[in-house]
Amino acid sequence: MKVYLDNAATTPLDPEVYEAMQPYLKEDFGNPSSTHSFGRQSKSAIESARKTVAGILNVTPGEIFFTSGGTEADNTSLNGLVQKYNIQKVITTPIEHHAVLHTLEHLESAGLTKIKMLDLTPAGEIEKDQLIEWLKDENNVLVSLMHGNNEIGNLIDLDEIGAMCKEHKAFFHSDSVQTMGRYTFDLRKTHIHTVLGSAHKFHGPKGIGFMYVNSDARIPPFILGGGQERDMRAGTENVYGIVGLAKAMEIAYRDLGKNREHVEKLKTRMMTGLKGLIPGVRFNGLSGDLNRSLYSVLSVSLPPSDKNEMILFQLDLKGIAASGGSACGSGALKGSHVINALEGDTDAATIRFSFGKFNTMEEIDYALEKMGAILG
Ligand SMILES: Cc1ncc(COP(=O)(O)O)c(C=O)c1O
Repeated sequence: MKVYLDNAATTPLDPEVYEAMQPYLKEDFGNPSSTHSFGRQSKSAIESARKTVAGILNVTPGEIFFTSGGTEADNTSLNGLVQKYNIQKVITTPIEHHAVLHTLEHLESAGLTKIKMLDLTPAGEIEKDQLIEWLKDENNVLVSLMHGNNEIGNLIDLDEIGAMCKEHKAFFHSDSVQTMGRYTFDLRKTHIHTVLGSAHKFHGPKGIGFMYVNSDARIPPFILGGGQERDMRAGTENVYGIVGLAKAMEIAYRDLGKNREHVEKLKTRMMTGLKGLIPGVRFNGLSGDLNRSLYSVLSVSLPPSDKNEMILFQLDLKGIAASGGSACGSGALKGSHVINALEGDTDAATIRFSFGKFNTMEEIDYALEKMGAILG
């Protein structure tokens, strides 16, 4: 049996999405910038996809820009906001995704801004009083806080943080890669400037994402060249990717309620099973709290034991795919920067299980059985 429990890294393509993409991989191959009928067909598919995404988020199509994924959307948003609005301070946390942290470090080392790291509780939450104090103290500020943490699942309330930013006239960027397709958004109501999504996290294809840029916060492009995406993102568009992204969004929001209920049950079963199996097991961050963490992520810390040795490898041998942290960092020797930020350098074995709509209860039970066998 093969069990894929790494849906925060990427998700399997939905067959409905694959079907929607096929014509654009075959007969509908025109370059959207061409003015002939082949080109117009592709252009119209892109604009229809843009409308779908905008409709789901309650924004205007002109505020949606397609990118190569979440990383590029983070880079474009942060570079754009910092440079266009002469941002003096960026308030963020050490547990953001590297697409945010490395971009901000780059901007700081180029002398364009300064980073201020908020303190975190042992569960990885920010202290809201500290954020308010810092917002009062500074001018030209950008707040960059991720909506759902990809490793420990912590959620923030976008409306609440947005309101704080509004009161203090700060810009607000949120990496919403892990929540897009899993939670509803009404961006007309939220004070936020840039938000993003990456299709492969919600059963769409890899290499395609989008950013929402509020019409009050126009930013310059990051990738320069032709005039695609209304001069905001040069390069011939990934037409089949864009079509797949919009289809995946449509399905995710069509089936959101039922998928959420199903995935929550899987996470709950895993939590209860692990607690019964492993005395002293802990759940990192807020991931043990269903109301305050992604229903798709469970970050597990195992009590010290020789049997934890190469635990991910042992699970892999039994056909179970999980992760130690984010997929992007899994080849690195250093532990996860997120877990380290919570606990300091730690040797504790961490496993991130992340669940998706195609997982079944039988798969969770199989994973629990194998965990039991490995850990004795
Ligand atoms: C929170 C978060 N931000 C950004 C990214 C990067 O997205 P992409 O893989 O589309 O570049 C990821 C993917 O791992 C993520 O989990």
